[in-house]
Amino acid sequence: MYDRIVDPSWNFKTANTKEFTHCYHTYPAMMIPQVARTLIELYAPQDQCNLIFDPYMGSGTSLVEASLKGINSIGTDINPLARLISQAKTTHFDIQKITEEIAEIQLFPFSYSEDKVKNTDFTRVSNPDFWYAQDILLKLSFLSQYIDSLEDEIKLFFQIALSETVREVSYTRNGEFKRFRMTEKQIKQFNPDVFGIFESKIFRNLEGLKQYNASNLSPKVQICDFNTVYEIPDVVLPNESVDMIVTSPPYGDSHTTVAYGQFSRWANEWFNFPNAKNLDNLLMGGKKKAEPIYETESIAKELKEIQSIDNTRFQEVVSFLNDYSCSIKNIATKIRKGGIICYVVGNRTVKGIQIPLDFFTAEMFEKQGFSHLKTIVREIPNKRMPSKNSPTNVTGAKGCTMSNEYIVVMKKTK
Ligand SMILES: C[S@@+](CC[C@H](N)C(=O)[O-])C[C@H]1O[C@@H](n2cnc3c(N)ncnc32)[C@H](O)[C@@H]1O
Repeated sequence: MYDRIVDPSWNFKTANTKEFTHCYHTYPAMMIPQVARTLIELYAPQDQCNLIFDPYMGSGTSLVEASLKGINSIGTDINPLARLISQAKTTHFDIQKITEEIAEIQLFPFSYSEDKVKNTDFTRVSNPDFWYAQDILLKLSFLSQYIDSLEDEIKLFFQIALSETVREVSYTRNGEFKRFRMTEKQIKQFNPDVFGIFESKIFRNLEGLKQYNASNLSPKVQICDFNTVYEIPDVVLPNESVDMIVTSPPYGDSHTTVAYGQFSRWANEWFNFPNAKNLDNLLMGGKKKAEPIYETESIAKELKEIQSIDNTRFQEVVSFLNDYSCSIKNIATKIRKGGIICYVVGNRTVKGIQIPLDFFTAEMFEKQGFSHLKTIVREIPNKRMPSKNSPTNVTGAKGCTMSNEYIVVMKKTK
């Protein structure tokens, strides 16, 4: 129907995915920079590519890659942490000013004492004593206090290091996006070095910043918070203004697939960002709408099968596809004729049935005047995506959900 090409050259098995500012902060289901980079190199419209848009920008991989090529970019995400990371990764901070602060940071283990901590109110953090040791909270507060005292110009660089630290020094289990607490035994042995962790992130990120600044290109980057399911403001993106989209949308709702909200809650609560506690309900598919509002042939068979097995799961899938199809309709109006879309999608398995989201994506864009150019199948070589989940929602029952990504490339022809 929409032909797929398996191409191992897209696997980037040995590539360094942490070059430039890509090293700043982990994020669930990050796109490999080499994928965004190669898509821009191969598919950016030849006649003109002034603006790349990412409607689900996450940690801003596409925006960084667009910037490195000197192309203006706009990204949106309704997760405040995603916007914080993307803003930091695309900012050319003054290296001299940052370096001057490092001497101060290195003194923290010696200069710190609990009585120097001004803010000891942690009510914005849910269940703080369940998730943190008291002395850790105080040290984090001390870091926040220090960052608040910095010049506005460089604050964000340090906030991004604190954002990762806040999660890492909590009692959450390593390697999980969801909020699972360590066992009591693990907690007893857990004694993270807050200042050491923060400092090592600063040094790591500084190396990334040096590489990024060395590119000597600084096209415009705009970070937004609109939700493409509902509207795309004309003042930000007039109709037919976008030359190219490079994006990786979620492949299902956050409750049953990747838990963006739970992963981000540490930082979102720490910085007192809005919707920190209920983000997963706001993301695509977060609210249940039972009736399909789209028409599909490409995945009709799979949806019917899921419905016959489990109507609740079917409705969850429909809720996501409703939002996703609305989002595609809105996005399509913003792309100019001859513009290109590159959607990197995952085909998840529900009740043992794989949903070909790549077909659905191509079908929805086709209805909006796009022609399918190709779909590239690549292997996911590292653990950026969970390859196993519990599709039956039975603890311990593991099913293989995804080991491939599908890159759908289409051109607006009408
Ligand atoms: C697969 S991630 C994007 C990862 C990104 N390419 C990167 O490299 O970090 C999908 C993103 O979609 C965002 N998202 C989900 N629903 C959204 C919506 N309705 N509007 C905007 N962003 C949304 C999530 O917050 C998440 O950051």
